[in-house]
Amino acid sequence: MAIEQVAVLGLGTMGHGIAQTFAIAGLQVHCFDDVPAARETLCERIQSNLTEFAAAGLVAAAEIPSILNRLHVHDSEQSAVTESQFVTEAVKEDLGVKQALFARLEEYVAPDAILASNTSSYPMTQIGERMRRPERALNTHWFNPPHIVPLVEVVAGAKTSEATTQAAIDLLRRIGKLPIRLNQELPGFLVNRIQTAMMREVWDLWQRGVASAEDIDLAVRSSIGLRLAVIGPMQVCDFAGLDIWSKVYGNLAPDLRADSELPDRIRKLVATGHLGAKTGQGIFADNPETLATKTKARDEGYLDLVKLMWR
Ligand SMILES: NC(=O)c1ccc[n+]([C@@H]2O[C@H](COP(=O)([O-])OP(=O)(O)OC[C@H]3O[C@@H](n4cnc5c(N)ncnc54)[C@H](O)[C@@H]3O)[C@@H](O)[C@H]2O)c1
Repeated sequence: MAIEQVAVLGLGTMGHGIAQTFAIAGLQVHCFDDVPAARETLCERIQSNLTEFAAAGLVAAAEIPSILNRLHVHDSEQSAVTESQFVTEAVKEDLGVKQALFARLEEYVAPDAILASNTSSYPMTQIGERMRRPERALNTHWFNPPHIVPLVEVVAGAKTSEATTQAAIDLLRRIGKLPIRLNQELPGFLVNRIQTAMMREVWDLWQRGVASAEDIDLAVRSSIGLRLAVIGPMQVCDFAGLDIWSKVYGNLAPDLRADSELPDRIRKLVATGHLGAKTGQGIFADNPETLATKTKARDEGYLDLVKLMWR
C-alpha cells in the first residue's frame, strides 16, 4: 500500500525541513516535538521556507496553504505515530534517547510501519537493540538544510529487512530526494567521512598559514567544488586519467595531515566560545548585518544550484 501518512518526531533544524519535504510531496505529515515552542512555531518556520521556495520558483505561491494544511501538529508522540506508515525521528543526538524512542514506538505504531532515524552517528544496529522487530527500522540520513539538499543516505542495520530498505528508498525517490544505499554500517556513513577527511587537510593548511580562510574557500569553490557538483570525484578521476591520479596520490598522500588531533587554531576558537554564525564569530568575524547578508546569499545560492542541477 502506498505510503501517504508519515510522522516526524523532533521539529528542530532537521525535523522541520524533513516535515516540509514530505508535505510538499503531497503526504499527510504528523509532527511532534516534546518542547511546546517547537510545535507552536513549526508552521511559521515552514511558511517562511516556503516563501523562499516560491520566490525561487520551487513551489507555486498558490500551493502554500494546501502544503501547510498537510502538516498536523500533535501534542503527544503516540497520537503523531499511530496512523503513520513511515516515521522519521530527528530528536537530539543521544543514543539512550533514541534507543528508548524506537522501543517505545513499537508499542503504538501499525504492525507494518517503518521506523527511520536521522542520526548523524549511531548505527541502527545499536539504536534498534531494544526493539522486538528491528527488521522494520533503518537510518535515513538527511543533510542540512534537509528541504534543500537532495541527498539522503539510506543505511540498513544488521537486522533491517530488504523490504524495509527498498520501501524507504522508493518513498524518498517519490518525494524528490536522491537516496543512496550504503552496503555497510560505518561511523559517519559516507558523506561525513569524506567531508571530515577534507576538513582535516583544509584546517591544517589554514593553521600553517598556507592561505587565508577566504582564499581557501574561493579555491575550493572555484575548482573542485565546481567539478564535484557536476560529475563527482570518481568520474573526475576517470576524466583526468588514473595514471596521472596514481602518480599525484603517491607523491602527495605521504605529505598530507594524517593524525586525528584537532588543529590548535580550531581548538582555541572553540575554547573561547567563537563557534561561528551562532556566536557571531568563528573562522570569520561577523556582525548581525554581515551574517544576514551571508545567510541570504547562501540560501539563494543553494536554491539556485538545486534548480540548476537537480530539478
Ligand atoms: N543539524 C544537522 O546538520 C544534522 C544533519 C544530519 C543529521 N542530524 C541529526 O538529526 C537529529 C536532530 O538534529 P537537529 O540538528 O535537528 O537538532 P535540534 O536540536 O535542532 O532539534 C532536535 C529537536 O528534537 C526535540 N526533541 C528532543 N528529544 C525529543 C524527544 N524525545 N521527542 C520529541 N522531540 C524531542 C527537541 O526539542 C528539538 O526541537 C540528530 O540526531 C542529529 O544528529 C543533524
